[in-house]
Amino acid sequence: MAIQRFSSLFRCRKWAKGDWLVASLGFVLIVFLLSFFFDSPLDSDTVSSVDRSLPIAYPPDLVKLKLSSKAKEKGAFCLDGSLPGYHFRNGSGSGSKSWLLHLEGGGWCNSIASCSSRAMTKLGSSNYFEHEVAFQGVLSNDPSQNPEFYNWNRVKIRYCDGASFAGRPEAEFKNETRLFFRGQLIWEAIIDELLSMGMSDAKQAILTGCSAGGLATLIHCDYFRDHLPKKATVKCVSDGGYFLNVPDVLGNPTMRSFYHDVVSLQGVDKSLDQKSVTKTDLSKRMFPHEFLKNIRTSVFLVNAAYDFWQIEHVLVPASADPDKTWAKCRLNIKECDVAQMKVLHGFRSSLMDGIGEFHQNKVGGMFIDSCFSHCQTSMSVTWHSPTSPRIENKTIAESVGDWFFNRKPVKLIDCAYPCNPSCYNMNFT
Ligand SMILES: *[C@@H]1O[C@H](CO)[C@@H](O)[C@H](O)[C@H]1NC(C)=O
Ligand SMILES: *[C@@H]1O[C@H](CO)[C@@H](O)[C@H](O)[C@H]1NC(C)=O
Ligand SMILES: *[C@@H]1O[C@H](CO)[C@@H](O)[C@H](O)[C@H]1NC(C)=O
Repeated sequence: MAIQRFSSLFRCRKWAKGDWLVASLGFVLIVFLLSFFFDSPLDSDTVSSVDRSLPIAYPPDLVKLKLSSKAKEKGAFCLDGSLPGYHFRNGSGSGSKSWLLHLEGGGWCNSIASCSSRAMTKLGSSNYFEHEVAFQGVLSNDPSQNPEFYNWNRVKIRYCDGASFAGRPEAEFKNETRLFFRGQLIWEAIIDELLSMGMSDAKQAILTGCSAGGLATLIHCDYFRDHLPKKATVKCVSDGGYFLNVPDVLGNPTMRSFYHDVVSLQGVDKSLDQKSVTKTDLSKRMFPHEFLKNIRTSVFLVNAAYDFWQIEHVLVPASADPDKTWAKCRLNIKECDVAQMKVLHGFRSSLMDGIGEFHQNKVGGMFIDSCFSHCQTSMSVTWHSPTSPRIENKTIAESVGDWFFNRKPVKLIDCAYPCNPSCYNMNFT
């Protein structure tokens, strides 16, 4: 896997048109080689000045898990009844009153059986959480990887409820299986806890998250805004969270019936926008298209137009490809034939149609790149690096920064695949 990632990264570099990149890499290489040739005790000064000109490699910032102290009294539990948790890094200097919350993703569960098996994994029980995780991308403390938010208070909230932090059923002990559908209570307990840890003094704040966490970001955006000081600047950045209500390649409504089951099993309705709940069919309520327009807070959408998770689960789920004609293409966009590319371009068009109205939203922002990618804010290589995807020569980090700090409107939509040479296209074959 690591080797494949590296080779796809390498291929991206080879394609990169930006001569400045090749030139600067060449320069670093030359300086590096020269430092070997001239490395002798006599000119150690020269060597150390050469070292300083090399990019500083920050060690990965490992941040410890903290189980929520407010969860128990509020009855906020993971699927299996264990306590939810988060990883917190305090801000410093100019970032000490700024907060960035990242909601972890990881799909959903839609039945007693799938939630029961999830309850025995780290997506359903804190008994399986890592004790520490590396803060990368939008969570990084390295200013070269995260120029805008590196010194903010940063929190990664772990996902262990299976319904985008939004489950809140009338009764949850269906079928004698002891499962807890308490996503909404987890969200409320952890926000409460962070408020008491200094977030109630925030001057600026961002709620973000990827995939199921990107959907949760949209669901909870106004709640987040409403619980922070009125004077604070508060905005939401949803990454890979714009799930589309489109049929799969066989014409079946795979995603719609899946969301129907998640909403009815876990009682997501009360957490969703009430205006759209009353007039929307149960099976559509969880799609951002139904409630994005009612969100009062500024939202930024980061989404790959060829989002690989959606291609693999919404457009071409394994069930829609019984004779495996999509086996290669759904794992590596470079393997798609002309007819398959046409279907993928159609998926991109559905996304453009879906966000058409949002595009008119004055305070909204977007970065829709034509990459085969997903969760691009959580990896440093895609969030902000010399090889990360760019639109109009801006990385995702720079685009989100321009929008958050009102430096300029940001409505970036890439041309269709394969026009962007800076894409970091995944290859799962
Ligand atoms: C916050 O973090 C900085 C380093 O990032 C550290 O120097 C400082 O002591 C911390 N402050 C608190 C209150 O923990
Ligand atoms: C309850 O469990 C039985 C056997 O495990 C299963 O057949 C049935 O469909 C379940 N009911 C629900 C509501 O999940
Ligand atoms: C792209 O941006 C980089 C800085 O991020 C700059 O050095 C470079 O000149 C820009 N390239 C173009 C073509 O504008």
